[in-house]
Amino acid sequence: RLVNAHNMVHDAFENHYAIGHFNINNLEWTKAVLETAQKTNTPIIVATSEGAIKYMGGIQVVVAMVDALMETLNITVPVALHLDHGQSVEMAKACIDAGYSSVMFDGSHLPFEENIEKTKEVVAYAKPHEVSVEAEIGSIGGEEDGVIGEGELGDPAQAKTMVATGIDFLAAGIGNIHGPYPSWWKSLNFDQLAKIEDAVHFPLVMHGGSGVPQDQVEKAISMGVAKVNINTELQLAFEKATREYVMAGKSQDMKAKGFDPRKLLKPGYDAICAEMTNLITWMGSKGKA
Ligand code: G3H
Ligand code: ZN
Repeated sequence: RLVNAHNMVHDAFENHYAIGHFNINNLEWTKAVLETAQKTNTPIIVATSEGAIKYMGGIQVVVAMVDALMETLNITVPVALHLDHGQSVEMAKACIDAGYSSVMFDGSHLPFEENIEKTKEVVAYAKPHEVSVEAEIGSIGGEEDGVIGEGELGDPAQAKTMVATGIDFLAAGIGNIHGPYPSWWKSLNFDQLAKIEDAVHFPLVMHGGSGVPQDQVEKAISMGVAKVNINTELQLAFEKATREYVMAGKSQDMKAKGFDPRKLLKPGYDAICAEMTNLITWMGSKGKA
């Protein structure tokens, strides 16, 4: 039932909106993201970093969980299951073999030639399986699950060479940063984004979507960003709601059994749903299924 992300992202690119890529961490996260997508009639990309895959118990666990939830929750909107920041060709292949419908090969830490060669290898393996592929040029600043980047801007000529490998969408460093944005950060680099888009006329991916102001998200989308990656924002929403529940003493309510994980995790769950609904509204993908 999973679909690859090619059609949804290209439709978004042609019609000037963006598909939300949401990183998941556990059962609650996955359920919240899938249910919100279905409720709002929105195509989405459910993504797992290598760290999150490890945390959840491995590739097979993730695929089985997402597949089973799609079935039991009766999810009919387009959903892609995507490997986020895959660090090796082997990892990308393993995810494809296990049933992922989309993979990112992140060779941004490699010399460019090697990044190209390895991306080509992933594309060659993915195509017969009808799996979409994302690659990266330049790098995303900050750190996500052990993936550290210097934040070099993507080079337009390199973007062209990378697109020619046959990938489905391209991540580029455009002044974006993983995790919460530091106080000195002011803006995405729209000049660079324009140069890259001009060179390729191709759907671009904005990593580090959490914390980018709404007007900048909308401007980036109007300039060719067709996939926006969100991880931290949902984590912050989950943490805030959970903290408020605990600080209000509710987890200590013995009579109401507020310590029951099904109750303890509920405010965070609801917060993920609310924040995601807000973000897909910004992206313009809400209701586009
Ligand atoms: O690959 C995932 C994203 O780039 C998430 O970044 O945690 O800053 O939203 P974020
Ligand atoms: Zn990222």
